[in-house]
Amino acid sequence: MTLAYPRKIDLARTPTPLHYLERASAKWGCGHRLWVKRDDLTGSTLSGNKVRKLEFIAAHAIDNGYDTLITCGGLQSNHCRATAFVGAQLGLAVHLLLHGEKPPERDGNLLLDHLAGAAVSCYPPGQYLREIDDLFVQWQSHYAERGRKALAIPTGGSDGIGVWGYVAACEELVEDFREAAIERAHIVTATGSGGTQAGLTLGVALHQLPATVWGVNVCDGERYFLDKVVSDIADWRARYPGMPPVEVQPRVLDGYVGEGYGIAGADVFGLIAELGRLEGLVLDPVYTGKAFVGMLAEIAGGRFKDCRDIVFVHTGGIFGLFPQRSGFNW
Ligand SMILES: Cc1ncc(COP(=O)(O)O)c(C=O)c1O
Repeated sequence: MTLAYPRKIDLARTPTPLHYLERASAKWGCGHRLWVKRDDLTGSTLSGNKVRKLEFIAAHAIDNGYDTLITCGGLQSNHCRATAFVGAQLGLAVHLLLHGEKPPERDGNLLLDHLAGAAVSCYPPGQYLREIDDLFVQWQSHYAERGRKALAIPTGGSDGIGVWGYVAACEELVEDFREAAIERAHIVTATGSGGTQAGLTLGVALHQLPATVWGVNVCDGERYFLDKVVSDIADWRARYPGMPPVEVQPRVLDGYVGEGYGIAGADVFGLIAELGRLEGLVLDPVYTGKAFVGMLAEIAGGRFKDCRDIVFVHTGGIFGLFPQRSGFNW
C-alpha cells in the first residue's frame, strides 16, 4: 500500500539485515526457523529501535520550529541516549529528565548522554512518577521564558508520530520475507513503552505482511500494553487523518518481567551469554534478553506452532549491558 508518510530525517542505517539463526534454531527452535531483524545495527551511538521513531519526531520538531528536545526515561534509557545524539547531530539542544537518583558514576547510556552534551536532571523515583507530566510543563516554560521552543517527547518516543518508525520498518520486512522465502511468520519484540509494538502491529496491517506481532512486556502487564498500543494508533489516526482504515489486534506475551523493570534473573543473563557464544549476537538484560527468553519459553510451549518462521526484532540496547556486568557468573 502506498502511504503518505510525513517527512523524516535519515538518521538510521536502514534497511537493516534479516539474519537466520542456524544454531539457535537447531537448539531451541522445536522445528521453527528463527530469524533476527537486526535493528541493533541501525547505528552505533544512534543504535536500536528508537532511532527509527526519532527520524520522524526530529523532522516534526524542525518543521515546527522547535530548537530543544525534552524527553524522559530511566537512568539507562536507550531512548534518552538516542535522543541526545539526534540532538547533537542536528544542532538541537536536548534535556533529559531521568528516573532515579544521580549515580556516583556515569556508565553505559548515561555516560553517552553526557558525551552528547545533553542536559540531565535526575529525579528520585517517587517524585518522577508523581510529577513527570508537571516536570515537562515546567521545563518547557523554563525554555519559553528564554525565547526557546522545547518539544516534549513522551517516554520511548511512543506516540502517533513515533509509530511511523515501525510502520516504515514493515516495508523492509515485506522485502525481507520475500528474499528469505518466508510465507508467514510470528514477529516478536520487546515492549517497554509500546511504540515499537504499535508501529509493527499497524505496519503489518497496512502493508498486508503475513505476520502476527507479539510484544513481550518488560514492565507493567498485558492490559497496559493492549491499551497503550491502541492509544498510540489512535493518536496516529488523529494526527494523520485520511490514513487507510485497517483492523489491528495487539498481542502481548506477559509473564517475563521477572522481579521488575530493569531487573533480570539468572535465566536472562545465562541466555545472553549463551547466545553470544552460539550466534555472535549480543542482547541486553532490560529489553531484548527478557524478550528472547520469553520467546523461547513460548516456542517450547507450542504457542507458535501454526507457522514455521519466527522473526525476533533485535531492538538494540547494548549500552545497558555494561552497568549490569555483575549479573554474569563467570
Ligand atoms: C533496547 C530496547 N528494546 C526495546 C524497547 C521497547 O520499545 P518501546 O519503548 O517502543 O516499547 C526499548 C525501549 O523502551 C529499548 O530501549
